[in-house]
Parts: sequence; structure tokens; C-alpha cells
Amino acid sequence: MHTATEERLIRPAKNIYGSLRLPGDKSISHRYGMLAAFAEGTSRFTNFSTGADCASTLACMSALGAQVNRREDGTVEVTGVAGKVNQPSSELDCGNSGSTMRMISGLLSAQQGEFTLIGDESLSRRPMKRIQLPLESMGARLTLTEGHAPIHIHGSQLKAIDYTPPVPSAQVKTCVLLAGLQTPGTTTVRESIRTRDHSELALRAFGANVERSVDSVSITGPQTLKAIEAAVPGDISSAAFFLCAAALFPGSQLLLDSLGLNPTRATLLDVLTSLGVQVAVLNLEDKHSELVGTVQITAPPEGLGSTSVTGSLAAQLIDELPVLATIAPYTRGGIRIRDAKELRVKESDRIALVVQNLRAMGAEVTEHEDGMDVPGGQQLHGATIDSGGDHRIAMAFSVAALRATGDSLIRGSESAAISFPEFFDLLDFIAER
Ligand code: S3P
Repeated sequence: MHTATEERLIRPAKNIYGSLRLPGDKSISHRYGMLAAFAEGTSRFTNFSTGADCASTLACMSALGAQVNRREDGTVEVTGVAGKVNQPSSELDCGNSGSTMRMISGLLSAQQGEFTLIGDESLSRRPMKRIQLPLESMGARLTLTEGHAPIHIHGSQLKAIDYTPPVPSAQVKTCVLLAGLQTPGTTTVRESIRTRDHSELALRAFGANVERSVDSVSITGPQTLKAIEAAVPGDISSAAFFLCAAALFPGSQLLLDSLGLNPTRATLLDVLTSLGVQVAVLNLEDKHSELVGTVQITAPPEGLGSTSVTGSLAAQLIDELPVLATIAPYTRGGIRIRDAKELRVKESDRIALVVQNLRAMGAEVTEHEDGMDVPGGQQLHGATIDSGGDHRIAMAFSVAALRATGDSLIRGSESAAISFPEFFDLLDFIAER
């Protein structure tokens, strides 16, 4: 069981007002950090994610021989191993980070050496067969512990494959591509539902040749990577909490600048639009093929409408579903979520925890194996929230608490630092009380 260490009191707010620039995107920071550590030369990143997950990636890559330096001005400097990692002296600790564990496994399977990857209690429960299957069909030698971490990898020369993951997953896709990067021949990953494409874009930014079609991505190895300099776009999955908070208050004003708006990540903006929120996107720029821009939203005076998130939408919105579910009671028509079974194998069983905590706040909600129905027109009351040590649950219920009657207590609030250490300070900054 996770033991919650910190509790945070959240008082209701009257409005949301402010202008923010958010720390760098977690998914992009993982990839930039990992590729820089594997590349030749010294890369420099501004606005690198401040979350503990990306620190886990950097610590693992440092144990593998990369030189990592966080300068006083916040710039992260990474000098890479030029394609050949060192044998680490101990286990590689991925902390709470599934992205770190799954992506590094692909990278290391094609290296020489013995590697053991471990994680915290939550990560040690998460499914790892999804990377073992494709890597073993490439000839990799890796053993899991009853389908989970610890993962032991005996690195070896691999062979290229053509693979279609049974469950859409950017982490699995990246794992296979990072193995393919080092493997003679063309490795292809096919996907029926398009997952976030940061790896494809980052690999190209580091000089690799990656081919894409509508539903596949291919890499022909072996290829080498060259250092880059980049500003990491603001994290739209972190922004989701503030965007949803602002959507709850007619008359709110929220402007987020330098926000990552990669189309494979920006689905929340469409969903907010379908709920009646006005979304303006300004100053669009392209940074290493990642779209970056300013987002300004205006909540509808008559309140939020209703929406349904199913099929490919659910997959693309997977990290934003908890917060969307927590604002659903305050809509007029409710929110229906289906095809989101993957939520059950994230940092926690996010369907069970969202349902449990919504009920603690007095909401009516119907749980389904792959989602939930949250009727609208409900006024919630403050409650004690069990975050389950899951950062997105802690932050999502802090948002629900802003519109509740009475105060709420978020147990395990320290987990926000996994992706967004600044969350509570920034929430206090934009919440008018
Ligand atoms: C991520 C992919 C998603 C997402 C996770 C980050 C990534 O997971 O939920 O937070 O950076 O590739 P899956 O690949 O398991 O869908």
C-alpha cells in the first residue's frame, strides 16, 4: 500500500484568473533527455520538466555514463555516450516513471552489458509484458518478474521487426524504435490509433532518419544521434488542470503561453470546445517540429454542456481523463467516458480512484470496466481525498475542490511533484478566493 505523507487543504475558489508559463512537457523532456544522453556531443535544454519522473530518466542515463548537469539558470546540459552506454555499477532506479522504464528497456536491449531496472511500488505493479513481447521478437534477452519490474536485460545484437502493438502505446512504440535505431534493417511500428509522436519528432531533431506513413513509423538502423539545443514546450497535460479549473468559472480568464500544442496531445482543447468553452490559440511556432503557442480560454456564461469521450479520443486523452471526470458533475449534461481501460494500469487504477473520490465528495457516478458515467447538475461537497500516491489524482481532485461546498483535504499531495512540483503554488496564484 502507498503511504500518504503530506496532506493539502484546498479551499473553494470564486474565480480563476491569471497568465502562466508552465514547466516543460514531461513526455518531451524524457525523450530529449534520453536521446541527448545517447547522442554524441553536449545538448542543452531550457524549460526542461521539473518533475521527479524526468529526473529519474536523467539519473538512469547518468548511471549509464552520460554527464548531466542542471545549471543554476535551470538549463539542463547533457553530454552523451555517443551510442555506447557504460555498464552501470548498480540497478537503474526508474522511480515512479513508466516512460523511463519502458523506453530505456528498448535502448538497453541492443547495448552490450547487463542491466537491471527497478521502480517504486506503483511502477512494480504495472504491466511490462507489452515491451517484453516485441523486444523478444527482435531477439532481446530480458526477464521480468511475473510480468512486472524488476526487469533484467542481457543486451545483445537484435534483428529488425514489423510490429503492431495490441494496445496503442507511445511508450511501447518508443521502446521498439529505440531498439530499432541500433539494429540493422528496418524496424516498423504500426498503430491503428495514433499515439503521441514526440519520439519520431525528437529522433529527427537529433538527426535520425525516421519514416512515417498515416499509420506506421519506420527506422532503419544503425544510426547515430547528434546533440541539439532546445526549449521544451510547456506541458499541456499539466495545463489541463488549470484549463479545466478555468472552465468551471464563468468569467474566468486564463492565458497560458509557450504551451506545447502537438496535435497528438492537444485533444483536450477540442473536448473543452465541445463543452462550450471558447479556446483561442495565438502565436503558433514550430520548435524542432513541436508546435508551441499561447492558449486563452473563456468559460461559457451558461455553464459547461455535456460530452462523450470514447474510441480513439479516449486513447489520445488518457492522461487528461481524471481531471475531465472531476469537472463532469459541474457540467449541465454530464460526461461519459468509455474505451479507457488503460486508465486501470496507470500509476494507480485511475477509474477506481476517480469513482471512489467523486463519491466521497457526494457525487453520483457509475463505474464501468473501461470508463464511467458522471451525470451533470451535481453540487459536490468538500471531502478527504485519497490520491493513492498518484500525481494526476491529487491534482484532478484539487480542481474539483475549487467548486465544492466546503474545504477538501488531499491526502498524498506530495505526489504532484512526480510531474508538476509547482502545481499547488500556481493553483494558489490563479485561484481567487
Ligand atoms: C506517455 C505515454 C502514455 C501516457 C504517459 C506518457 C509517453 O502512456 O499515459 O503518461 O510519454 O510516451 P502509454 O504509452 O502507456 O499509453
